[in-house]
Amino acid sequence: MLTKYEIIRWLTKTDERELIKLWRMADDARRLFLGDNVHLRGIIELSNHCDRSCWYCGINAKNKRVNRYLLTEDEVMEAVDQIITYGYKTVVIQAGETQLITTKMITSLVKSIKKKADLAITLSLGERSADDLRAFRNAGADRYLIKFETSNSKLYHRIHPTQTSPWKDRFEIIAFLQKLGYEVGSGIMVGIPGQTIEILAEDIMNFKTLGLDMISAGPFIPHPDTKLGQLAVDRLDINTPDSQVPNNEQMTYKVNALARILCPNANIPTTTALSSINSAQGRELGLNRGANVIMPNVTPIEYRQLYEIYPNRICIKEFDVCAYQKIRERILSIGRQISQDTGTSRQYLSKQGG
Ligand code: 5AD
Repeated sequence: MLTKYEIIRWLTKTDERELIKLWRMADDARRLFLGDNVHLRGIIELSNHCDRSCWYCGINAKNKRVNRYLLTEDEVMEAVDQIITYGYKTVVIQAGETQLITTKMITSLVKSIKKKADLAITLSLGERSADDLRAFRNAGADRYLIKFETSNSKLYHRIHPTQTSPWKDRFEIIAFLQKLGYEVGSGIMVGIPGQTIEILAEDIMNFKTLGLDMISAGPFIPHPDTKLGQLAVDRLDINTPDSQVPNNEQMTYKVNALARILCPNANIPTTTALSSINSAQGRELGLNRGANVIMPNVTPIEYRQLYEIYPNRICIKEFDVCAYQKIRERILSIGRQISQDTGTSRQYLSKQGG
């Protein structure tokens, strides 16, 4: 078991020759516990409406430049058809956190998808009420994603301006989702201004404490129409626990590798944000350093550029990087396979006694 001290030691190393050892440990843990399968999750961005004003996110409620949309059920079902054609076994429905998306909309959608195909359904709709989360689960939803973003409550409150929420914090939501029997995913952004190496080490330890089934850590990418995007941050050296965490590629790989070593049974995606900062190799390097999941975007093409949580997302102009055939080739080229099942988290199965 890695101690906090050892996690900090890895996080402060930048020499690639030394880091090879970390990459190898993460890759070995992934292979030993989960094998070579890569699970593909088709992600549908249901809506870019959002009621919240998070300091990092491009689709925050205050951003008047965003052209807002909400897909119709027919549009979602067309994207689901595409998922079926491509042979993906999981559909992820993601949207901003908004009351425009009603309970009924989601329960009806979940039922329609379940009726149509044997797909696992993951929801990522923000801080919904307890009644909603229960209704979605009863309708057939299998998984829920809600990032805690940072486990430092002072930093959390700084970047999430107060507003009414039925929840004390996101940890309370995670516990509730687990109680409802969802497979639960959470995670963080790497390099949020104000995030220190020590805070990051605590985040990583929390992945384990929370018993997460899915873990996602992508780089923070500044968006010009947000508070944090307009804030200049001093880039200090990262050799002490209270240094600012850089939002770069290497740091993101380190966080994902450490997450894999601490939580060998969890599903870990190579995030779109990571491939957005290295479109040539980000995905493969993520997969070689602990990740076992890719989430290809299947949102109808005309809406994709409107879901701009951060700038220069891939799969908007560079279709080829995302296109189905390309993703398959890239997985096979690094000696991995494409999973043929829904890819339920081993962590979840082990908790169910399976
Ligand atoms: N950079 C990176 N990730 C972001 N997210 C939102 N805005 C950004 C950004 N600027 C991620 C957050 C959030 C999810 C919806 O997208 O982690 O949970």
